[in-house]
Amino acid sequence: MNNKGHVLVTGGAGYIGSELTAELLRCGHRVTVLDSLLYGGESLLGFFHHPNFHFARTDVTEPGALRAALRRDWLTPEVVVHLAAIVGFPACQAIGRQAAWKHNVEATKLIFDQAVRMGLGRFIFASTYSNYGLAPNGTPVTEASPLTPQSLYAETKIAAEEFLLAQKDATCAPLIFRLATLYGISPRPRFDLLVNQFVLDAYSKRELIIYQRGYSRSFIHVRDVVRGFIASMEAPENKVRGQIYNLGSQAGNYTKDEIVGLVIKRLPETVVTYKDLTFGGDMRDIAVSFEKINRQLGFQAELTVEDGIRELIHVLRTGLIRNPQDERYRNAQFIVQ
Ligand SMILES: NC(=O)c1ccc[n+]([C@@H]2O[C@H](COP(=O)([O-])OP(=O)(O)OC[C@H]3O[C@@H](n4cnc5c(N)ncnc54)[C@H](O)[C@@H]3O)[C@@H](O)[C@H]2O)c1
Repeated sequence: MNNKGHVLVTGGAGYIGSELTAELLRCGHRVTVLDSLLYGGESLLGFFHHPNFHFARTDVTEPGALRAALRRDWLTPEVVVHLAAIVGFPACQAIGRQAAWKHNVEATKLIFDQAVRMGLGRFIFASTYSNYGLAPNGTPVTEASPLTPQSLYAETKIAAEEFLLAQKDATCAPLIFRLATLYGISPRPRFDLLVNQFVLDAYSKRELIIYQRGYSRSFIHVRDVVRGFIASMEAPENKVRGQIYNLGSQAGNYTKDEIVGLVIKRLPETVVTYKDLTFGGDMRDIAVSFEKINRQLGFQAELTVEDGIRELIHVLRTGLIRNPQDERYRNAQFIVQ
């Protein structure tokens, strides 16, 4: 029996999507995952026999992808969580402007329009705090702060946000999360995210090369992101319709140097080298305010960067991931901190 509603997750085989799928199933939801499997689909094998799970290999850039993904004998989903995208600055650079725009902007429009036509109630969109770019004079950015994108990736996310905000009175209610940088383990681990990458390098090479050591970033555990998404599904629709929420935690605002400090506390044999880049790297330097999500949705992160570092080291030490250097755990071949 299913009485918790049906959720459609695009990009459900990915880092966030596979963890979200697990949690939605655990909570009693029916879940349809739509994914083109750019990085494989092993992350979904654990759900394969679950009676509330359905998978469709579909590309969100194809018109009609949403309808094609649904099982005819299940009721239409109430919510779509749109995660499918070319994720991150290096992956967007690698694929090029036109293709990045097609996947991240045009596909968002296509999926939203189909969600409206099919009568879905809510559209949850995963955007990024990269949209803010640089924080003027170190003040934490709020949802109302100006957006100064420093990358093609952020430009595509801003364009998708603008489209969705213009649809805020549609029958399907759009809702935007600007996520901090994630860390931690999920069924599709990523080692191209700063904390995860630092732990892997410190563990496997005993070496860390750090660029722009004083730059600030904001971090959140993948499981806390999933909790934030679910909190927004449970909130009254009129409260979240057309809203933007920074999703992260005050305690997750760190400089890179502070992250290095936390990693070497656990892996003290690591040799750290510092370098400066004047261009070509990820020049975001930013602290974020999470006051709005805390006040309006009562959301607070439960996990810390130290929890994440501990679990990453555990996974590496026990060999749960056979070859963490494998390219399937990275969205692009080159990594930028
Ligand atoms: N991980 C982070 O730190 C972070 C931070 C901010 C925002 N986000 C956003 O959250 C979402 C999920 O990120 P993630 O870290 O899970 O990324 P991911 O790369 O692990 O997952 C993306 C998934 O989308 C699928 N996909 C890509 N293009 C597709 C297409 N055209 N059709 C169907 N499926 C397609 C991929 O196969 C993959 O399984 C993205 O929209 C991303 O921009 C992530």
